[in-house]
Amino acid sequence: MDALKVNVEHVFNSVSRHEIEALLPEVKKAKEHLLKGDAVGNDFLGWVNLPEDINSEMLASLKADVKRLSEKSRLLVVIGIGGSYLGARMVIEALQSEYASMVRGEKPYVVYAGHTLGEDYYSQLLQLLDHEDYSICVISKSGTTTEPAVAFRIVKAHLEQKYGKEEASRRIIAITDARRGALHDIAQQEGYPAYVIPDNVGGRYSVLTPVGLLPIAMAGYNVDHLLQGASDMRVICHKDDTLDGNPALLYAAVRNALYRRGIKVEMLVSCQPNLRYLAEWWKQLYGESEGKEHKGLLPHSLSITTDLHSMGQYVQEGERLMMETMLRVRRPNATVPVPTDERNLDGINYLTCKTLTEINDCAAEGTLQAHVDGGIPVVEITVDKIDEYTLGQLIYFFEFACGVSGYTLGVNPFDQPGVEAYKRNMFHLLGKPGF
Ligand code: PA5
Repeated sequence: MDALKVNVEHVFNSVSRHEIEALLPEVKKAKEHLLKGDAVGNDFLGWVNLPEDINSEMLASLKADVKRLSEKSRLLVVIGIGGSYLGARMVIEALQSEYASMVRGEKPYVVYAGHTLGEDYYSQLLQLLDHEDYSICVISKSGTTTEPAVAFRIVKAHLEQKYGKEEASRRIIAITDARRGALHDIAQQEGYPAYVIPDNVGGRYSVLTPVGLLPIAMAGYNVDHLLQGASDMRVICHKDDTLDGNPALLYAAVRNALYRRGIKVEMLVSCQPNLRYLAEWWKQLYGESEGKEHKGLLPHSLSITTDLHSMGQYVQEGERLMMETMLRVRRPNATVPVPTDERNLDGINYLTCKTLTEINDCAAEGTLQAHVDGGIPVVEITVDKIDEYTLGQLIYFFEFACGVSGYTLGVNPFDQPGVEAYKRNMFHLLGKPGF
């Protein structure tokens, strides 16, 4: 299978090749910081050596727990917020049918909680859980985040009422810190099976730990192929010091070159709706890693062709403040041709027998050309197809490029001090002791 490719041929309307190449020493230095762990944030670099550092006994035990829970669950409720759910959701939504919730499959269907405080959301979730066999995977690195803690209390109470306390404790898996936090203490006291988020892996870089692997495996996807894709991409990102040979260095260099040229927004453009959570995961990864000290590209996303009929006008003719990163997929997983119709009342016979991918590719190509002509620099990232292996490639590529890009920008890509501000105000308003 072909490796992921980054193409920067369509950015020269905004930045020169020389300006990108001039950044090579900086991105190489940033890469060295990641590999040597000799810069700020170096206590959160555990992800750099994932998946190689994954403990095989842990993986075997995780698969056994997945098998045990899958046999008795129609639904898995994944409770977590931010980096504690977006990675799993990205992979699951990229791979599953858009209509998976309406078809009773062999594997449990994953639903999410703890990422919102919307009251109606929980009322609807509890109504669903009344009628389905389910288990819970509760994920929080700190073990103290309010949203998942509230959701866990609500759903756990429902589970205990439905199955009794003893059976409920066999239907809960916790993923949290090895030693600290309320969730760690609850899991110990209640005897829930628990998996560890390593100390040196931050939430948004944790998809290749049990945080992502357990829900993905529960949904029936092959985590070994996912890890293989990540592992192969890790080799490429670590070994090559050239812009041509290392896609992560090239992507980090081009986005920093464009940022220095005044670009403020980066839109991740995908051509398939099932990649919408890839964009959500990517937004968190880049937004939380780079958006600090009043710096950083604002991550945004567009879905082609859906959003061309809502955001297309602005992108084509509005403020010139954005770049695009277009995610191209070479091959679909299935083909749907346009049927023939002799009467041609709709006037689209020129499309007869073309597949939707051929039409979609022309839409993407036409969009790319129009946006480049309109002054938008476009980076293309191409993968072979959407499966576990390429998603693994994309995960490692985007994570490594994010670390390189953040260091090149001059920030610590591994902290998120700004996230605390809303929490302090919320705790004060809720009357939490000490606030
Ligand atoms: O990337 C991060 O660190 C954050 O998005 C966290 O994942 C998020 O805030 C949830 O934190 P926790 O896992 O501690 O509940």
